Amino acid sequence: MSTLITNIKGLVQARPEAVQTVKGAAMKELPVLSQAYLLIENGLIHSFGPMSECPERADIVIDATGKYVLPCWCDPHTHIVYAGSREGEFVDKIKGLSYEEIAQRGGGIVNSAKRLQAAAESELIESALSRLTEMESFGTGAVEIKSGYGLSYDGEIKMLRAIKKLKDRSRLRLKATFLGAHAYPPEYKQDHEGYIRLMIDKMLPAIADEGLADYIDVFCDRGFFSADETARILEAGARYGLRPKIHANELDYSGGIETGVKYRALSVDHLEYTGKEQIKALLESDTMPTLLPSTAFFLGLHEPPARQMIDSGLPVALATDYNPGSSPSGNMQFILSLASIKLKMMPEEAINAATINAAYAMGIEQEMGAITPGKRASIMITKPMPSLTFMPYSFANNMVEQVIIS
Ligand code: NIG
Ligand code: FE
Repeated sequence: MSTLITNIKGLVQARPEAVQTVKGAAMKELPVLSQAYLLIENGLIHSFGPMSECPERADIVIDATGKYVLPCWCDPHTHIVYAGSREGEFVDKIKGLSYEEIAQRGGGIVNSAKRLQAAAESELIESALSRLTEMESFGTGAVEIKSGYGLSYDGEIKMLRAIKKLKDRSRLRLKATFLGAHAYPPEYKQDHEGYIRLMIDKMLPAIADEGLADYIDVFCDRGFFSADETARILEAGARYGLRPKIHANELDYSGGIETGVKYRALSVDHLEYTGKEQIKALLESDTMPTLLPSTAFFLGLHEPPARQMIDSGLPVALATDYNPGSSPSGNMQFILSLASIKLKMMPEEAINAATINAAYAMGIEQEMGAITPGKRASIMITKPMPSLTFMPYSFANNMVEQVIIS
């Protein structure tokens, strides 16, 4: 089966040779081939080039006059398996309560955990599938999904089994992350040791046994898990070959970035509290700093210093953090707009961050994130646009017309 896309106004992220990540000043360089064709064969990118060299036939031909073609977004940080919603807390926030105050009153993650524990696995799968379909309509082709609303042996295993089934049922490329250490459940509020032992002695062996997780995560922040607690959990995960992707420095200088780097995290995410020392630690690592601008937007947090990071030579990835408490949206195009408007990232930097660097942050940079022969043909075709910048400029609109998955 072959599909030929012709007359493409701009073929974006077209790289004949694969790259792993783009960092620093190179993030501004985004290869765009004008008046191009793209040939897909058997679900993979076969070749591309100028229209003057376009092949003569294919099984399906799509004319993309006036339109751009991009590799699908990768969304390397989400919590899309959940039950219920939390718009009551949204109103509490409007009235002036902070995210931490809501959590201290039994709202927040613990609120979602109560609902998840009562939900059937099938219900979790169906609601997550409809979220995935919506994300795909905005151009997303790969999604990392975390557990972390179980907060009990049964709850965490139920969530991870749901994610495993989603891998079979969804067309999108999915990765699963074990986030038992999302919050202390109320019954362990005074017994941190007890909950850490439950994760290390009971949950992790069962998860490894059933092959339920690709990565391990800890919410390393003020009021949640300390850097020392994080280190113990990551060490235990490493014994089962689980590489960390952690929540770090969202609410304070938590030591999360340094701990993540020490345990060779694939990514450290959030990073609202990042200073010179943390940037230095990241520069000496192969950990991807991953920014979640819709969370800072929704909670009214100050912005992570994306400009300093990139100007210091770091790569940056972007994700939605889609979850019911701090980012109830999975629209990656809106993330691009926020990255440009709030984080002062150039549109080219934001697109690199949401494609190739985001693919790296979920360990699939060999398969996705760029238009490179041999990679999966997961691509989006835009509506007609005057320029590529028109996409982040048109915030909250959907500029994607068609998505092709593999
Ligand atoms: O990434 N920061 C921790 N976890 C989620 C929020 C989860 C929730 O509030 O339900 C986040 O923002
Ligand atoms: Fe998160």
